[in-house]
Amino acid sequence: MADLQRHFDRTIEQDRRVEPRDWMPDGYRATMVRQIAQHAHSEIIGMQPEGEWITRAPTLRRKAILLAKVQDEAGHGLYLYSAAETLGADRSELTAMLIEGRQKYSSIFNYPTLGYADVGVIGWLVDGAAICNQVPLCRSSYGPYARAMIRICKEESFHQRQGYELLLTMMKGTPAQRDMVQDAVNRWWWPSLMMFGPPDDASPNTARSMAWKIKRHTNDELRQRFVDMTVPQAEVLGVTLPDPELRWNPERGHHDFGPVDWSELKRVISGDGPCNARRVAVRRSAHEDGAWVREAAVAHARKTARRTA
Ligand code: ACO
Repeated sequence: MADLQRHFDRTIEQDRRVEPRDWMPDGYRATMVRQIAQHAHSEIIGMQPEGEWITRAPTLRRKAILLAKVQDEAGHGLYLYSAAETLGADRSELTAMLIEGRQKYSSIFNYPTLGYADVGVIGWLVDGAAICNQVPLCRSSYGPYARAMIRICKEESFHQRQGYELLLTMMKGTPAQRDMVQDAVNRWWWPSLMMFGPPDDASPNTARSMAWKIKRHTNDELRQRFVDMTVPQAEVLGVTLPDPELRWNPERGHHDFGPVDWSELKRVISGDGPCNARRVAVRRSAHEDGAWVREAAVAHARKTARRTA
């Protein structure tokens, strides 16, 4: 046992990857399952806010882009459930935990998409925040998660650019279109900052996850990186970020920003956000409606196995 622990410690220390068949401490396995499952659930639930706009996208081109994007999210969810399975998690159990409210998913997907500009703002801010958070996860210590993250980040980058391009187009449009963009930015800015999680001094998992090199940066470091990256993009776009305290601080070499309402994040995480009940209900009914597909797949697999035997 001591040898196994030493081997694991050395793997982390030397920045090598932990692979599914390697011995790992129970706490490491549990943390990885928790993070990967929450991440997978976020991708799957994350299909809903934008999915609601597929039928209402203004042109065939925008519809095709949005359809492709939402399909990508489904793909990300599936890679991530597969990565969780390499740790011994059972996919149907993970789904059960999601639809029974026993496992979390990202707070951001509990906000409504009130207008078409929200699709662009989700691409720009939400996917931008996701990239900021997930690029360092390509170097996460658990091999299957790190490798899944490489492809996911490439696709997230396309998502972010399509959102920004959509907003640039709307900002060149009518005053009403520009107002729609500004209104969406006002509603999504603070929830996007909350995506990075609680502040470091209130984040119970960060220290251990950093020591295990699951996380490479703290929540606050990534939040700051996101703010610094987004401010010049907002200027190019011609929108105002809804924070009167946002300004460049030459001493720190970063932007200062106003206080985040952490009570709102707590409320949304604990199930009381604007759309939590609806998101989980839609996922639950999709799961129930899909029961016949799962039964058919099992019956087909049994028949094929019998024939092979
Ligand atoms: N929404 C919902 N839950 C959150 C959020 C959030 N924005 N931020 C933190 N939490 C949860 C944590 O999962 C943790 O829950 P648990 O310990 O009860 O299981 C708790 O709040 C405390 O937070 P931390 O100690 O900071 O948790 P952690 O170290 O796991 O950091 C983070 C949270 C940054 C989200 C991390 O898990 C992570 O990087 N995950 C991978 C990325 C991800 O899941 N992205 C999903 C959205 S992006 C997208 O899908 C487009």
